[in-house]
Amino acid sequence: MNKYQDILKKYISGFRYAHSISVANCAMSLAMRYDVKLEDALVAGILHDIAKRNNNDEIVYLCNKNNISLSEDDLKSIPVLHSYLGAYIARNELNITNEDILNSIYNHTLGRANMSNLEKIIFVADYIEPLRKNRSNMSYIRKMAFIDINKCIVLIIESSIDHLKKVNTFIHPKMLETYEYYKNINVGQV
Ligand SMILES: [Fe+2]
Ligand SMILES: [Fe+2]
Repeated sequence: MNKYQDILKKYISGFRYAHSISVANCAMSLAMRYDVKLEDALVAGILHDIAKRNNNDEIVYLCNKNNISLSEDDLKSIPVLHSYLGAYIARNELNITNEDILNSIYNHTLGRANMSNLEKIIFVADYIEPLRKNRSNMSYIRKMAFIDINKCIVLIIESSIDHLKKVNTFIHPKMLETYEYYKNINVGQV
C-alpha cells in the first residue's frame, strides 16, 4: 500500500493497526470528495495514531522528554496527548515535512478552528471509519461526512461531548472552540 504501512507496524499493532489502515482508506474516499491529494490523505491516515500506546504514562514521559509543550488542560486530557506526540514522531523520526499532514496528525483528536480540508478529513475519518463501534447517530454522521464535512464535524463533537459527559470525563476547551467555530460558519461552505 505505502512504505508507511510497514513503518506503522513497528510502532503499533493489533486493533490500532487495523484502525489506522481503515482511517487511511476512509480518508482517501473523503479526499476524492473534497479535492485533497490522495497520497496526503493516505499518509496522514496511516500515521495519525502512530504514538498511541497502551500506557498513558509512557506517552506523558515521551512528551516531556521531547519538550512537547503541554497545557494544564492537556494534562487533564491524557488521551489527547498521542496526537501531539504523533506529529512529533512523524516530523522527527519519519522525516515528514508536509505541514498539512503534520497538522492533521496533531489536531485529529480535538480539531481546531479553520482546519484545512486534510485536517477535517482525518478528524472525521478517525470517527467514522468502518471498524469504529457504532455510536448514536453514526449512520447519519457517516452520510453527512460526504455531504457537508463542516456539519459532520459539529455532529461528531456533539456526540463526543455527550459521551464524555456520560462517563464524567474532562472536556478539553479546545474541543469546545472547534465546536463553536464549526457551528457558526456557513453550512455547506467547503
Ligand atoms: Fe487518535
Ligand atoms: Fe484513531
